Amino acid sequence: RKTITIGLLGMGTVGTSVVKILTENANDISQKVGIPVNIKKIMVRQLDKNRNIDVDAEFTTTIDDIINDPDIDIIVEVMGGMNPTKDYIVQALVAGKHVVTANKDVVAKHGQEIFEAADKSKVDFLFEASVAGGIPIIRPLKQCLAANKISEVMGIINGTTNYMLTKMANEGLDFNSVLAEAQAKGYAEADPTADVGGFDAARKIAILASIAFGSRVSIDDVYVEGITTISTEDITYAKELGYVIKLLAIAKDDERGIDVRVHPAFIPAKHPLASVHDVFNAIYIKGDAVGETMFYGRGAGGMPTASAVVSDIIDVARNITHNANSRILCTCFSQKSFCPVQN
Ligand code: NAP
Ligand code: HSE
Repeated sequence: RKTITIGLLGMGTVGTSVVKILTENANDISQKVGIPVNIKKIMVRQLDKNRNIDVDAEFTTTIDDIINDPDIDIIVEVMGGMNPTKDYIVQALVAGKHVVTANKDVVAKHGQEIFEAADKSKVDFLFEASVAGGIPIIRPLKQCLAANKISEVMGIINGTTNYMLTKMANEGLDFNSVLAEAQAKGYAEADPTADVGGFDAARKIAILASIAFGSRVSIDDVYVEGITTISTEDITYAKELGYVIKLLAIAKDDERGIDVRVHPAFIPAKHPLASVHDVFNAIYIKGDAVGETMFYGRGAGGMPTASAVVSDIIDVARNITHNANSRILCTCFSQKSFCPVQN
C-alpha cells in the first residue's frame, strides 16, 4: 500500500477546512501516518458551485461513485442531516469502508445500528467532531478517563447559542441579528432551530452521557429547553443581579438514576463558565478517581471542527497501516436505553 485514500461527503464549512488541513499539512500528516493521505473523490449537491479552493479530486453527486470505488479506504461524512446521510454511513460501513463523521444527529439517533455495522465489518467509525467542535472530548472520555466512574458531564456545548448570548450581553444586539451573524460565520446548523431550540446540545449531551455512563442515553431521554425565549432585557436584568445566562447541558448519574438536560441557566458572574465567550465551549467531567476536569476550546467553525475530523482520519489511517482497525468499540451505544429522566 502506497497511500490512504479518502472519499469526502460534503464540502461546505467543515469539508472545505478538511481539504485545507489535508493539503496544507500533507507532509506532516504523511509522516505521522507513514504514507500520504489523499482525497480522491468529493460528493456535493451542486457541481457548478464556486468552491474558492483548489483541490485535486473528482467531484460527484452520486454516493455509489464513492462507496463502490475500491481505492477508497475512508469515507469522511461532513454533509450533515439525517436523510440520506445515515443510510450512506451504514452502506459505507457494510461495504467495508472506515467512516469518520462530524454528524451528531446521526450518532445520537442511530449510534446502535451504526456501531453494529462497523463491528460486523471490522472497520473504524470515529466521530470526535460530533461534540464540541475542536475540543478533544469523545476520545478523552472513552479512553483517557476510562478508569473512572463518571458521575457528571456538564457545560456549554453549543457554539452558536454561546456566541449569540455573548453578543446579546456585550453589545445589546437582538436575537435575530446575532443568529444571522452566527450563521454567516458557519457556526449554525443548516436548520438553526437545532441550535436555538437546544436540540443540537441535546444530541451532543446524549452522546457524551452514553459514553460517560456506559448506557444508551437517547435524545428522547433529554429534557430540552432552548434560548428562543431569552431577550436582551433578560440578559441585562441577570447582569444587574450578578449573573450571566448560558445554555447548559447537564448529565448526572447518581443513586436516583441518570438525569440529562439542556436549558438556559443563571451562572454567577465569577463562575469559570461565565467567562466562556463567543463560539467557545467548556465541559466539566467529574470522575471518582480524577476528580473534576475541564475541557475548553472552540466549539464550532470550519477549522476547529476539521481539526477533530482530520485527527480522526489520521487515527484511522494509522490503524490501516498497522492492521489494527476496529480496536475500540463504543459498546455503550449497543445497550438498551434505560434512562429514567428526572424532569
Ligand atoms: P454545510 O456548510 O451546509 O455543508 C454541507 C455540504 O454537504 C455541502 O458541500 C453540500 O453540498 C453537501 N451536501 C449536503 N447534502 C447533500 C446531499 N444530499 N448530497 C450531496 N451533498 C450534500 O455544513 P457544515 O457546516 O460543513 O456541517 C457539516 C456537518 O458537520 C454537519 O453534520 C454539522 O452538524 C457538523 N458540524 C458542523 C460544525 C460547524 O461549525 N459548521 C461543527 C461541528 C460539526 P453543496 O456545497 O453542493 O451545497
Ligand atoms: N451548530 C453547532 C454549534 C456546530 O453551534 O455548536 C458545532 O457542533
